[in-house]
Amino acid sequence: MTEEMDLILVHPSKEIEEDAVKYKKEHFDYGDMQVHGSGGLAFFDDYDEWLDRVTLIREGDPQNGVQTSTFFSKRLSDGKLIGCVKIHHSLTVDMKSGGHIAYGIRPSERGKGYGNKQLQLCLEYAREQHMRQVIIACDKSNIASAKTAMSCGGILTKEFEEDGVWKQHYAIDLAGL
Ligand SMILES: CC(C)(COP(=O)(O)OP(=O)(O)OC[C@H]1O[C@@H](n2cnc3c(N)ncnc32)[C@H](O)[C@@H]1OP(=O)(O)O)[C@@H](O)C(=O)NCCC(=O)NCCS
Repeated sequence: MTEEMDLILVHPSKEIEEDAVKYKKEHFDYGDMQVHGSGGLAFFDDYDEWLDRVTLIREGDPQNGVQTSTFFSKRLSDGKLIGCVKIHHSLTVDMKSGGHIAYGIRPSERGKGYGNKQLQLCLEYAREQHMRQVIIACDKSNIASAKTAMSCGGILTKEFEEDGVWKQHYAIDLAGL
C-alpha cells in the first residue's frame, strides 16, 4: 500500500453509522439512485436493518447459502469512507449474470484512482478466501466501471443483452495475483 493511497477495507459496523449515512446522502445529493456495491444501503431507511442484513449474509444468505462480504473502503489519513465493495463468494445459476463483485466510489472521490485501489483490495481478500477467479459484470455503457475492472487485470469474456441493456463480463484470474 502506498502512502498516497492509504486505503483499507472495513466491515460495516454500528460505530461508523454516522459516516455511512453521510456517505449514502452524498450519493442522493449527487443524483445517484443507489449506493453501488453496498448491498442495497440506499433502500434501507434504517441503518441497523441494513447492517443486520449485510452481517447475516457474510455468513451465508439463508435463502441460497451464498456468502457475501460487504465492505467500505476507508482512507487511513483522515478516516473518510471512500467507497463500497461487495463480493459474493460463490454464485448460484440465477446470480451468474450479475457476477461476483460490485463496487462504487463516493461521487466527490471518483476519478482519483480509488476505484482501482479498492478493487485491488477486494481481489486480495478474494484470494485469501481461496477464490480462483472472479467475474465482474457491468453495463457496456459504463466505461468507468469497465476500465476499473480492466485496470485490475479484467479480461472481457462475454457481452450479452439483459432486459434491453447490453452488459459485459470481465474475468479476473486470481491465481496469478
Ligand atoms: C466505477 C467507479 C467505481 C470507478 O471508480 P474511480 O475511483 O472513479 O476509478 P479510478 O479513478 O480508480 O479509475 C479506474 C479506471 O477507470 C477510468 N475512469 C474513471 N472514471 C472514468 C470516467 N468517468 N470515464 C472514463 N474512464 C474513467 C480511469 O481512467 C481508470 O482507467 P485507467 O486504469 O485506464 O487509467 C466509479 O466511477 C463509480 O463509483 N461509479 C458509479 C458506480 C458504478 O458505476 N459502479 C459500477 C457498477 S457495479
